[in-house]
Amino acid sequence: MTKPVGIGLVGAGAYGEFCLAAFSQMPEVSIAAVADVNHERAQQLADQYHARAYPNLEGLLNDADVEVVALNTPPNLHAPQGLAALNAGKHLFCEKPLALTVEDAQKLIDTANAKGLRLTVDYVMRQNPFWAFAASLAHSGVLGTLRHMDLANHAAGLSLPANHWFWNPALSGGIWIEHGVHFFDAFAWVAGGEGQILGSAAYQHGDGATDRVECLARYGDAAAHFYHGFDQSSQTEQTTVTLTFEQGYVTLREWVPTSIEVLTPVDDTLWSNLLPRTVEYTTLDDGRRLARAYAPEGKSVVYTRAIQDGMRQLAAAVRDPQASLTVTGEQGLASLRMAVATTSLASDK
Ligand SMILES: NC(=O)c1ccc[n+]([C@@H]2O[C@H](COP(=O)([O-])OP(=O)(O)OC[C@H]3O[C@@H](n4cnc5c(N)ncnc54)[C@H](O)[C@@H]3O)[C@@H](O)[C@H]2O)c1
Repeated sequence: MTKPVGIGLVGAGAYGEFCLAAFSQMPEVSIAAVADVNHERAQQLADQYHARAYPNLEGLLNDADVEVVALNTPPNLHAPQGLAALNAGKHLFCEKPLALTVEDAQKLIDTANAKGLRLTVDYVMRQNPFWAFAASLAHSGVLGTLRHMDLANHAAGLSLPANHWFWNPALSGGIWIEHGVHFFDAFAWVAGGEGQILGSAAYQHGDGATDRVECLARYGDAAAHFYHGFDQSSQTEQTTVTLTFEQGYVTLREWVPTSIEVLTPVDDTLWSNLLPRTVEYTTLDDGRRLARAYAPEGKSVVYTRAIQDGMRQLAAAVRDPQASLTVTGEQGLASLRMAVATTSLASDK
């Protein structure tokens, strides 16, 4: 058996803790080190996983057992810390966004290539079975041409305190760069090519922070609309993605989808084999078939598996340079390009 790949996680915050729990269940990797400027926090999580704690990135980069850096710090640090990790000879599992600017994202890709290191972005949608089904269905052409894609992401922003880095565009890049990149990438996957931003708007709440954004885009001949509102609570949050084809509708629910619905008059023997997980069928009065596939294990399990799949692919690529990655730096860059374009379009107004 090959030696488990050593992970050094930098940024032991809320999501870092979730990722460590996911990595700790994987035989392909071992948690070697945890770093955080809040050293007590790093120590606490390092102790939990029998790893070494460091008060900064530099200490962790000098640890020979660290082969992959999992970068879980706020977005403005991804480029400088990612470059430092690559320059120290470490592979990179980067949280989204890859960087705040297209230029910095390109620099990360170029540095990884120049040094023969692997780099991936934690785009959990790319590892989600329901998004994978939506993409396969679109690519199969069985429902006809893709006409329209719509995202309504009503997120639990009310749980983020006013001084959280998320609300500061200098630290987060703003909603499009911090969060929207997931969906620009997922829509590009379904549509089979990069999109183009046509128009954008931003809405501010009382203290001037942008809490809602929307944009119009096109992916080839498919129209797209994205809306993110960080103005809901954990009790009222809801996310719906609707994909409209010539011959049917596909609906994904929750921001990390745990279900998908297909409504179409097309004979289900032509597409039901692509559906993941538990499936229920209903025949409507007009004869259309409604299929609903869902993950009864729920969001946390689906989310954890997606993180593990991304890390598993990177660990395999670290041991075998020929192994391919589902999420490449180029995909991180393409979606960031759209996020940067819509951010600057909205702020021009
Ligand atoms: N892929 C996903 O689904 C997903 C989900 C949530 C968050 N994220 C991303 O994960 C990252 C972290 O988000 P979070 O919600 O955990 O944030 P957080 O604020 O909870 O955690 C960030 C941690 O980084 C530490 N930190 C700050 N500066 C540092 C430095 N210079 N060196 C070392 N540590 C430093 C902080 O002390 C904190 O513990 C963000 O990039 C976010 O976009 C990704």
